[in-house]
Amino acid sequence: MDSDLLLNIDDYARAARARTAKDTFDYFEGGALDEITLRENTDGWSRLKLYYRVLASVGTRDMRTTVLGQQVSMPIVVAPTAFHKLACEAGEIATAHAAKAAGTLFILSSLSNTAMESVFAQAGSPRWFQLYIYKDRGITLELVRRAEAAGAEAIVLTVDAPGLGTRERDSRNSFRLPDGLTVENLAPLGKGNMPDVEGSGLAAYVKANLKSDLGFDDLDWLCRSTRLPVVVKGVCRGDDARKAAEHGAKAVVVSNHGGRQLDTAPATSEVLAHVVDAAGDRCEIHVDGGIRRGSDVLKAIALGARAVLVGRPVLWGLCVDGEQGVMNVLEILRRELDEAMLLCGCTRLEDIGKWVLDPK
Ligand SMILES: Cc1cc2nc3c(=O)[nH]c(=O)nc-3n(C[C@H](O)[C@H](O)[C@H](O)COP(=O)(O)O)c2cc1C
Repeated sequence: MDSDLLLNIDDYARAARARTAKDTFDYFEGGALDEITLRENTDGWSRLKLYYRVLASVGTRDMRTTVLGQQVSMPIVVAPTAFHKLACEAGEIATAHAAKAAGTLFILSSLSNTAMESVFAQAGSPRWFQLYIYKDRGITLELVRRAEAAGAEAIVLTVDAPGLGTRERDSRNSFRLPDGLTVENLAPLGKGNMPDVEGSGLAAYVKANLKSDLGFDDLDWLCRSTRLPVVVKGVCRGDDARKAAEHGAKAVVVSNHGGRQLDTAPATSEVLAHVVDAAGDRCEIHVDGGIRRGSDVLKAIALGARAVLVGRPVLWGLCVDGEQGVMNVLEILRRELDEAMLLCGCTRLEDIGKWVLDPK
């Protein structure tokens, strides 16, 4: 058998490592400090065991669902991640095309290397825009207005990054964008370049530009300022999720930023059920962090998530084969989820429940 076959997400990670510059690969792969949360995210899903049902008369599986009322072909969507042109020349346009081909949601990061107008013009629906709150509200509002005008269908406010978690790999590599690449959405607003400092240029950029004293008043302000639904991303507690919903969030993403912010924050698999209990009756709950197999997706749905976001797997696909690589990665996860549903005895997503994680 061909050992170069790219059968699963780990194969894509290895192939990406082999063909990507070290500082870029480290930026994509790395986490904060000791990378404990980074490892726990993946391990947490693996530790959950599937108590499958037999003789369940499962026919053709149907994994279609909706996110904020919008149709997606599967509960696996593209997380917002920065700087896709580090992975391939077509950058975010390639990722958007792949998500469209897969019939799923694409979330564009504020920190893209391609202007949102160009990306959203090529993206399918649904397409959402991820927002960081800048110190300058005028800049933040300008981003929101541009996203609305460019066809974004929701704003995803990332709340777990009032400062950048220290990623020691990036500090050692003095990570920065190479000449010719910018934080493109911010370039017309004078915030397109990273400061030229020792250590991580991104950490310096965040410190210089993003609001560090974020509060629920910022969420209130955003909900008042846009006609689009607001999603709050980066929650790890039930009480915060409930409060976010009370302050107007239509969905919450249980996320620790892929282990890149507060190290030793819990794995998202460990907190998801608490968040669903606290706020699942008020808003949609989505989750990300460490999803590498279709069976992980099934487990997340069993714990009450509506959909999962995938970050690094998409980046690996992009590094390996651009748009086609992302399509392959999404299809691997779809195929694996389909198989997990068949073997667990689930025809539709609604058939997946907590029972599958419980032997009784
Ligand atoms: C290289 C990289 C860049 C990221 N950039 C952003 C970003 O710009 N905005 C954001 O909200 N989250 C960002 N994230 C976090 C992802 O949206 C997501 O929460 C995380 O990647 C999920 O974990 P996973 O990579 O294990 O799937 C980034 C993650 C990575 C790996």
